[in-house]
Amino acid sequence: MKVFLVGLLGSGKTTLGKVLAAELDLLFVDLDWEIEKRENKSVREIFAQQGEDHFRKLESELLREWAGSQKYFVMATGGGAPCFFNGMDIINESGLSVFLDVPVDVLNSRLAAATDRPLLDTNGQAERIEKLESLRVARLPFYNKAHIIVQDTSLSNVLKAIKLRK
Ligand code: S3P
Repeated sequence: MKVFLVGLLGSGKTTLGKVLAAELDLLFVDLDWEIEKRENKSVREIFAQQGEDHFRKLESELLREWAGSQKYFVMATGGGAPCFFNGMDIINESGLSVFLDVPVDVLNSRLAAATDRPLLDTNGQAERIEKLESLRVARLPFYNKAHIIVQDTSLSNVLKAIKLRK
């Protein structure tokens, strides 16, 4: 089985993905880390040196490679991965997608101390909330195509939802 966790920055894809993969006895893959390994640079460096367009191309390339591979895994995708170059269709055709639907105020408080998200280089909290809200509006049409949508993103709830689908 290939499980893809999708959702906005800060929705807990990496944290949940690790425990979910362990619980399902699957490999855990973080798409951002795969990009960083391939480029030998951090996401922030790629954005700064080569720009977001280049990052999106790399992201799509790696997503396609993993989606087409023989491997089974739980993948934490980057927040934008489903929203560029047909990412969501690729995800849905190759595996099971789970949208972690976390409200903006929760994302905002989780991301308050984060320094590794170039998209959130904003001046203060009000601007960050605005940015998160506009990302949410723009991305919901993609995320809402997920096979499973959860507001309760606890391990037990997500496991239950996955088992019901299997
Ligand atoms: C992005 C989310 C980040 C990372 C990059 C862009 C986005 O990943 O891919 O900074 O466009 O939402 P996380 O969702 O894991 O923070």
